[in-house]
Amino acid sequence: MELGSEYDLDLNKLNISSNNLFHYLESYNCQFFDSGRSALRHIPFNQNKAVLLPEFICESVSNCFPSQNIIFYNITEDLQIDLDDLKRKITPQVATLYICHYFGAVQSAQILSYLRRMADECGIMIIEDTTQSFFSINHITGDYMIASIRKWLPIPLGGVLYTKKAQDLPALDHIKTSSDNTRSYGMILKNLFLKNELDCNAKYRQIFTECEEKLDTSDEILQISDFSRFLISCIDIPELIAARRSNYHFLTLELQKIGLQPVCALAENDCPLVFPLRVKNRDSFRSYLMEHKIYCAVHWPFDHFRPEFRPMAQKNAETLISLPIDQRYQKNDMTYLRDIIFQYGGELLF
Ligand SMILES: Cc1ncc(COP(=O)(O)O)c(C=O)c1O
Repeated sequence: MELGSEYDLDLNKLNISSNNLFHYLESYNCQFFDSGRSALRHIPFNQNKAVLLPEFICESVSNCFPSQNIIFYNITEDLQIDLDDLKRKITPQVATLYICHYFGAVQSAQILSYLRRMADECGIMIIEDTTQSFFSINHITGDYMIASIRKWLPIPLGGVLYTKKAQDLPALDHIKTSSDNTRSYGMILKNLFLKNELDCNAKYRQIFTECEEKLDTSDEILQISDFSRFLISCIDIPELIAARRSNYHFLTLELQKIGLQPVCALAENDCPLVFPLRVKNRDSFRSYLMEHKIYCAVHWPFDHFRPEFRPMAQKNAETLISLPIDQRYQKNDMTYLRDIIFQYGGELLF
């Protein structure tokens, strides 16, 4: 058994679903891109004025803004916006506020409605990053929403920019459509490795690494490929949500027996991205899980950009681990994950 890491793709299981993501987003204006960062770069934010970014954010997001314009605001230990800190940083120089929800949990309604009012009064554009809360959100706050949907779905490329129907999106006609489906070759090989034991582990890992490097070194905005669009039309969203919730629920009940709880609480209708834990000696624990073929992401490794303003980003980079609970897995996979964690001899609790 192997859990986590990149999605695989089983071409024999593709079937068009009417409950797909296009249906899920039908009440919004949407544009689909190769990545979340292309969706973000396509937003007409003011390039010459300051942007308020949460200190805890992925490097690929901060790289979309001119570095001299970035002002970080604090995020609390339980991943809420530190409103007092944010308020102190609102000045006439600020034109854009970037907000983010973490691990499926949505920021409090009170904070969000305060921010909406404040932004309207001060003429600030809110960009709301729903990458980690994409299937939790039923109420949007931002002027523009972006999400990297490739984090949720077995697709080689995918990011979306969306707004309320009343708000127009910037023109797309000059934006090229990606024809690079290289990552899907890696996903297909991974499937052959997992299902048919084809000896191609090194090859697909190399493909994934090269694709990610290519994305990291390009700032070209591209529309999503036709193949990725087709794959999206085959994924049943209610099934995906139900599987994730059920896996998360099982682990919540099991891990609390040894005193472990997810780092932020999900509301009843939220959908988890992963099962995020804060643990002592995270690297040893992560290596132990790897020895048992459980591959966990870290959200996010610290990029060393302005460390003096980002204490929680640094702490999270050292202590958080994201256990896989996605739609690929069922009860027996979660039982395996639980058993391996229960057998760990090291100290996890702070
Ligand atoms: C919260 C968040 N937003 C946006 C992005 C950018 O998405 P992409 O990697 O598809 O460009 C990421 C990437 O990890 C992310 O974690």
